[in-house]
Amino acid sequence: MTDKARPVTTRDLSIMKAEGQRIVALTCYDSLFAGLLDSAGVDILLVGDSVNQVLAGRDSTLSATLDQMVYHGASVRRGSQRALVVVDMPFLSYQISVEEAIRNAGRVLQETGAEAVKLEGGQPMLATVRALVERGIPVMGHLGLTPQSIHTLSGYRVQGRDDESAARLLTDAQALEQAGAFSLVLELVPTAVATHISESLTIPTIGIGAGAGCDGQVLVLHDMLGLNPGFSPKFLKRYAQVADTVRDAVRQFAEEVRTGDYPGPEHGFD
Ligand code: KIV
Repeated sequence: MTDKARPVTTRDLSIMKAEGQRIVALTCYDSLFAGLLDSAGVDILLVGDSVNQVLAGRDSTLSATLDQMVYHGASVRRGSQRALVVVDMPFLSYQISVEEAIRNAGRVLQETGAEAVKLEGGQPMLATVRALVERGIPVMGHLGLTPQSIHTLSGYRVQGRDDESAARLLTDAQALEQAGAFSLVLELVPTAVATHISESLTIPTIGIGAGAGCDGQVLVLHDMLGLNPGFSPKFLKRYAQVADTVRDAVRQFAEEVRTGDYPGPEHGFD
């Protein structure tokens, strides 16, 4: 584990990879959970553009806006002290031009206090990644299933299954490293492909549905806590059943309100 007494830096993540220490990442959208995850020793808090899927009932990440990412990024940054906070650049905030990407990513760092941004894509994004890094904005890449391209990918399916697409993933990963990305999310990639990519890079890979050969793992917090019982992809492990706890607590509250057991005399004021 990295030094618990000081904030995690992008450099620490490279050192962790070199020393064979696995990196722990979770998505986070608010200050309350940020404090909990931070105190549990999570290394990276990813303010994902999945926020609207998880919290607002949307069926893709495409609706997330820059204002939203700034709001959630600032909330997470305020709630955490040690973890590195990475904020997703939402759809169309970085694809139109390098200039817009610099302006928008700069705004994210300036207004949230986060340490880095994440953006999706390989070859077409290299000039943007280079320009951001050269201007002092650390970038995490994202390859494999890139949710902002869900309609061109025709659904949430594993990427890099055939030799040609696996080779393209490797080339893209190496090019992103060359362009200055400090880390790379690999999403829904066969274990062997993700392992090979991870072994070919000096920057750490963070996997989600990409097997144990990655240098770290990320999950969507609400999924791994069991807050979303209807969502069960193969890669997901639930570490708690919080939905059951919430339902039980709310049922008990409703019961006590209806019977008059709550509030008791001790909950009132003289
Ligand atoms: O937006 C998100 O939550 C993500 C993770 C799934 C990696 O990008």
